[in-house]
Amino acid sequence: MPTIFDFSGRAAIVTGGANGIGRGIAKRLKAAGAKVHVWDLESFSADGLFSYRCDVTDPASISEALAATGANEGAIDILVNNAGSGAGSKSILDSDPQQWRKLIDINLMSVFEVTRQVLPLMVRNGYGRIVNMASLAGMEGTPNLSAYSAAKAGVIALTKSLGKELALTNIRVNCVAPGPIETDLLNQLSKEDLAVMLAKSPMRRPGTVDELARIVLFLTAEDNTLNTGAVFDASGGRAVY
Ligand code: NAI
Repeated sequence: MPTIFDFSGRAAIVTGGANGIGRGIAKRLKAAGAKVHVWDLESFSADGLFSYRCDVTDPASISEALAATGANEGAIDILVNNAGSGAGSKSILDSDPQQWRKLIDINLMSVFEVTRQVLPLMVRNGYGRIVNMASLAGMEGTPNLSAYSAAKAGVIALTKSLGKELALTNIRVNCVAPGPIETDLLNQLSKEDLAVMLAKSPMRRPGTVDELARIVLFLTAEDNTLNTGAVFDASGGRAVY
């Protein structure tokens, strides 16, 4: 599907863009004309994207990636805080406190720290579009995913707070809250677990990476002037608020 947005001359950072949803977003932005810098634990060479090895839980690693991205010479117009993981989640009683903190680090602290370092470039340039990847888990609270759910609820609140903080500038901050999206993770679920999950969805199907990428494309476009501090549902109608 061709894009209707023109990102020519725009520079973007997509965290966690080596795989899955982030890769889909990065490819869409690139196809629409943006120069796209992918920050990820994994580096790669493909799709005309610029790849940097970066651990978004480590402030020093973020500074290095920012310097390597060449951000000092030019503006960063778009930031997609997409890196995240629910791996290692357990029931509260079985949770190891250190692992719980790690999940907060990768899913919430990373969004704060990357934004804290990139935002001054947007403020200096008087323009910016930030999109944070939350989750339906952050709205509903998914059992046995307490740290992930709490972190994603934090991402939603951070988005609302920062959106208001920057409302008088030309920087817009929003988040997306996807339900299940067709990624490798979903393909690893048993048929039974998948059926339970899909039965909860009014559309009776998971979303696709490209459907999500197209929502992000609108939120990161110059055309998005009025939406800020908002949560965009991407659950096929499952979210009730
Ligand atoms: P994925 O596991 O396919 O990709 C995540 C990427 O983040 C990987 O390339 C990984 O190397 C990178 N990453 C992980 N830790 C990192 C770190 N410390 N520093 C830098 N990069 C790191 O995951 P997926 O499914 O594409 O998810 C992307 C985002 O969407 C995540 O924030 C996830 O929580 C969220 N999400 C995903 C859903 C799904 O159904 N797949 C549903 C709701 C939200």
